Amino acid sequence: MKLFNNLKASSIEKNQGEAHWQAPSNIALIKYWGKRELQLPSNPSLSFSLSKCLTQTKVKYSFDQKQNKIAYTLISQDIKSNAKMNKFFNILAELFPKLHHFSFEIETQNTFPHSVGIASSASGYAALSLSLLSCLHEAFGVEEDENFFKKASSIARIGSGSACRSLLGGFSLWGKNKYVPQSSDEYSVGIDDIHQDFRELNNLICIVDKEPKKVSSSQGHELMNQHPFKVQRFSQAYENLNSLLSILRTGDWRSFAGIVENEALTLHALMMSSDSPYLLMTADTLKAIEVVKSYQKQDHYLAYTMDAGPNLHIFYHPQKCKVIDKLKAELKERIEDCDFIEDKIGSGARKL
Ligand code: DP6
Repeated sequence: MKLFNNLKASSIEKNQGEAHWQAPSNIALIKYWGKRELQLPSNPSLSFSLSKCLTQTKVKYSFDQKQNKIAYTLISQDIKSNAKMNKFFNILAELFPKLHHFSFEIETQNTFPHSVGIASSASGYAALSLSLLSCLHEAFGVEEDENFFKKASSIARIGSGSACRSLLGGFSLWGKNKYVPQSSDEYSVGIDDIHQDFRELNNLICIVDKEPKKVSSSQGHELMNQHPFKVQRFSQAYENLNSLLSILRTGDWRSFAGIVENEALTLHALMMSSDSPYLLMTADTLKAIEVVKSYQKQDHYLAYTMDAGPNLHIFYHPQKCKVIDKLKAELKERIEDCDFIEDKIGSGARKL
């Protein structure tokens, strides 16, 4: 990673310090589903950052020249030391061997409840990567330059692919493609040419099931390697991206709904049609989709997507969509224990 050359060339200046960042969760419109090598995506994906679903992470570091294995401790409940996190730190230290002289103490919290089925890995790895990178800049006396977010994004990607899209405000694109020349497989880039309507998107998260998911995203990505429809899926994602980029410029809501709903249903269809098929939708997911589709007939400023889970993300325009209160009431009525998180497009990560 050439981006890190200035850190690699520097020597230690400060043995102890800390950094504190918050980063948002994001919701994908074009889905990342399938990966290769070191967390490089099989197709480009596009998402936007949320405003209220955030992770705040404080990292304290200490440097000891005599220490020769990277060490970290977690001192909060919202994050668990697990195989994924051990792998993350080990890969970072392989890429940047000076990290073996560092110990990190990590304190982290989410602004959204733990058990509502909202994945915290994107915001979690984004906030952790930003804080780790700030610590390294401080330790080596290197200025945080204009490439700081790109570097943090490529570190976050190693923790969790979608986390690399959880740094910038507004829309982020990850994955090299011919439509956006500055795009990269290693980090996300911002998409700025966006119609006013889509700069104001609201995202009502409709929680129909709070259980942790039974098949992880990592297992789902793995299944794409042998998937019978993988070639078609990867080329479809490029086509959908191309269409969506122009829809986002022109503000065409009907076409927006067409693409994002197609991506959501394709994601779930890929799970259902893999060699080890599985279902993450529930009967309540289908009810919720039915309700959204019926209101969409009256009011087209409305669309939905899904992550790799049973909950629905409902997009609407805060002023133009007139049916949202009725829609919510009907979802509450038809789905037992249905909960909402009201969120919207956000302004990205920031230092605390
Ligand atoms: C369905 O980023 O959670 O949310 O890279 O294995 O950590 P790992 O997977 P992850 O996959 C997210 C998949 C998705 C679609 C998306 O966000 O693009």
